[in-house]
Amino acid sequence: MIIYKSEAEIDLMREAGAILAEALARLQTIARPGITLLELDREADRFIRGRGCIPGFVGYQGYQNAICTSVNDQVVHGIPTNRKLREGDLLSLDAGLIHRGFWADAGLTVGIGKISVEAQQLLDATRESLEIGIRKAQVGNRIGDISAAIQQHVEGAGFSVVESFVGHGIGRDMHEDPQVPNFGIAGQGPLLKPGMVLAIEPMVNAGRKDVALLGDGWTVVTVDHSLSAYFEHSVAITADGPEILTSVRKSDAQHRLPSRLVGDGQGGDLED
Ligand code: MF3
Ligand code: CO
Repeated sequence: MIIYKSEAEIDLMREAGAILAEALARLQTIARPGITLLELDREADRFIRGRGCIPGFVGYQGYQNAICTSVNDQVVHGIPTNRKLREGDLLSLDAGLIHRGFWADAGLTVGIGKISVEAQQLLDATRESLEIGIRKAQVGNRIGDISAAIQQHVEGAGFSVVESFVGHGIGRDMHEDPQVPNFGIAGQGPLLKPGMVLAIEPMVNAGRKDVALLGDGWTVVTVDHSLSAYFEHSVAITADGPEILTSVRKSDAQHRLPSRLVGDGQGGDLED
């Protein structure tokens, strides 16, 4: 069952998203060679609680940490450990929080120091695929329009879409209906209506699409050990177009005004 959000609820989700975007921006600046994944996790936990929010991943189905940290051939849900980041690593950060009862969920992949050309291409294609998917998140379109646009961009760049994990509705629960696959057929699936909020999250492998679960029960890796990247935003479907909730608000004025992907002439805040 899809739960539609009121304007007031989307206001709260916008606040949640802005705080999460700040947390991710902070993590991005400290993700340097030598820092451990656990140090990033502790900083995220501290930051989120410091803003009066709950790091919602903690305790979620037994998960123990505030963020997921997935390195190189790890796709998503990597558990933060004492592993130190090294020059050339590809780090996917995934974070979520609860603010006044509502979730924000977002993430991104960042290169640590200088990364390979292939890694950069994978990162760029994945980020672009999210942008392209978000552009399809328009009233009157269907979920399949988002899915197909993402898949087409990823495969056009020579990479593959992970099929075992998908995006999702988000609200008072992190995972709500509908599912938002990163592959599919345009014109199919649930109709997009105002008040829907979707976490759109392409997971893209440099090699084959197949993934496996590590023995820790969480970490998802590519079967062929190829690199993987991931970007995620929580996005509200509005009559005025998609609104990215999990982007950094650059000024107070923008904090009050919706930061529209389309319609305000300001561009989309799509850069992470
Ligand atoms: N953010 C992830 C998602 O989009 C979920 C993280 S799993 C958790 O589905 F256990 F860490 F919460
Ligand atoms: Co998600």
